[in-house]
Amino acid sequence: MATTPETPQVYSPSAEFVAAANMKGHAEVARQAELDLPGFWGARAAEFEWFKPWDNVLDESNKPFYKWFVGGKVNIVYNCLDRHIKTWRRNKLALIWEGEKGEVRTFSYHALNREVCKFANVLRSMGVKKGDRVTIYMGRVPELPMAMLACAKIGAVHSVVYGGFSVEALHGRIDDSQSHVVITCDGGYMNGKIVELKRIVDEALKRCATVENVVVVKRTGHEVPMESGRDFWYHDLLNLPMARASTSETEVMDAEDPLYLLYTSGTTGKPKAILHTHGGYMVGVATTLKWVFDVKEEDRWWCTADPGWVTGHSYLVYGPLLLGATSFMYEGAPTFPYPNRWWSMIEKYGITLLYTAPTAIRGLMRFGEAWPNRHDLSSLRLLGSVGEPINPEAWRWYHRVIGKERCPIMDTWWQTETGMFAITPLPTMDLKPGSAARPFPGMEADVYTEAGTSAAVGEEGFLVLKRPWPAMLRTLYKDPQRYQDQYWSKYPGVYFTGDSARKDADGYFWIIGRVDDVIKVSGYRLGTAEIESALVSHPAVAEAAAIGLPHEVKGSAIYTYVMLRTNYEPSEALAEELKAHVGHEVGPIAKPEKVSFVPSLPKTRSGKIMRRVLKARAQGLPEGDLSTLEE
Ligand code: PRX
Repeated sequence: MATTPETPQVYSPSAEFVAAANMKGHAEVARQAELDLPGFWGARAAEFEWFKPWDNVLDESNKPFYKWFVGGKVNIVYNCLDRHIKTWRRNKLALIWEGEKGEVRTFSYHALNREVCKFANVLRSMGVKKGDRVTIYMGRVPELPMAMLACAKIGAVHSVVYGGFSVEALHGRIDDSQSHVVITCDGGYMNGKIVELKRIVDEALKRCATVENVVVVKRTGHEVPMESGRDFWYHDLLNLPMARASTSETEVMDAEDPLYLLYTSGTTGKPKAILHTHGGYMVGVATTLKWVFDVKEEDRWWCTADPGWVTGHSYLVYGPLLLGATSFMYEGAPTFPYPNRWWSMIEKYGITLLYTAPTAIRGLMRFGEAWPNRHDLSSLRLLGSVGEPINPEAWRWYHRVIGKERCPIMDTWWQTETGMFAITPLPTMDLKPGSAARPFPGMEADVYTEAGTSAAVGEEGFLVLKRPWPAMLRTLYKDPQRYQDQYWSKYPGVYFTGDSARKDADGYFWIIGRVDDVIKVSGYRLGTAEIESALVSHPAVAEAAAIGLPHEVKGSAIYTYVMLRTNYEPSEALAEELKAHVGHEVGPIAKPEKVSFVPSLPKTRSGKIMRRVLKARAQGLPEGDLSTLEE
């Protein structure tokens, strides 16, 4: 196996691990999948319960609007809950939850199903129907997955907005989805402080016309305004006679019916809604989780992601429930009250599989090894990473200090758009720190030159996916044209990921980063345009540009350049005010690291800001081709 200069070491899994793995002989499986893609995915889909089987696994007649399991009738929630409560898993734990303050709540599959049914009845009685969009804006409490599942159960389309987003981001997402119902909490706990979720909803709703009802989960119990006739407490609704029935019919959905919208940042200020469906998404997410994380009946799975991001959707909510697994979910900050919080919970609950982000690993690494070393982490058997490239140093720390050199690390590359892991190791493969290894069976990936030919070994190029996969996005909600333009037009017929990568002599992929105007801050995806539009909504700002620059813990941090309106003067106080303004409009994660006041911005003759020039200048690098520059 070839190595690269940065990573002289290859880590091979132990023979015991390989012998016990869910997925053995991956090379042969991948070869079979390549030869017969519909046969491969059809066999995976047959592991689930369908109300009616599909007629055709893959319909490619209207590319790039691929359809999967055409004619099949299914509901993902039926396979997450209804299916299990007919078996012994009824009394198996589905969810263990710990609040930031240490409270513990547990739900068996039976109990989770009961809560979901009750809330589904409430939503139905509020008039929510198949196809209606519902916005969910909550902290990390068990009612968040319950709300998602209740929506999906009745055929409504959930749109979860990350609870760390703020007024303008929330408003834009509610407005675009035309939701009539918003589900939220009075507040959430994060780092010992209250996040004012309900007040943010109230402020956002002043700017939205569609919302008729707000359902509020009481989490913090602090005083929040409730608008009579519009706002209802979740617990009050669950006590109404219509909710009491602990059963509720699961809607029969077409395999291609929408399951959810998830807004994500792209290259324009307007966030785009990725649309996922019931059938293909179910099959893709469950198969990838089962094989990559080797999930077994007796495992305790912990995906640290927030349900507000795709990782939470696929691998905190749907994936583990589809597999009948036991998941752990934690509400708060990793360092609250001390930097051993995560390690203590791994010990307390006997977590076996841990899936987290490089930024969290780097953040916890800073506090030193003494914190994890104080805990018994021997229950762990497999680790995972997602969201951004993991630097080999963090990989090795994670492997040595957390995994005790025993646990393989799955560096999973995927996107909101892919819905499921696309390039990822399998636990039986050799691992190279910093590489996401190979395409999952059935996936075909490549690195392209600008001209659309395969790049040479070791040459940096654009990462593309060349065959459809079941959990792929189906379109951008209300914007099929943008779906085609953004993903399928740079290289016709080939999916353009927006990432750059290299492939080594073993066919391992090394992801480098985004090539568009997306910034990954602590693994969170933000668009430069969203930050810029928040800045120019401040009265002092005439024009603004945002770029991402490397940051030791966050991966990238946001740097902004601001041209002021004529009667404003640059000052430290104004810079602070602008940072706070972005925090208020978009969310705390979007707060710029730095605001620099500039007399002009580098632009093309057609007026487009040349962010690459700003980036090069900030890093003291050559500015590249400036032939189109007009400052
Ligand atoms: O740039 C890649 C990076 O995250 C982007 C997708 O972001 P998002 O849609 O928010 O989904 C994140 C969780 C799936 C990708 O285009 N990315 C994700 N995973 C990795 C990664 N970069 C390198 N290595 C990864 N494992």
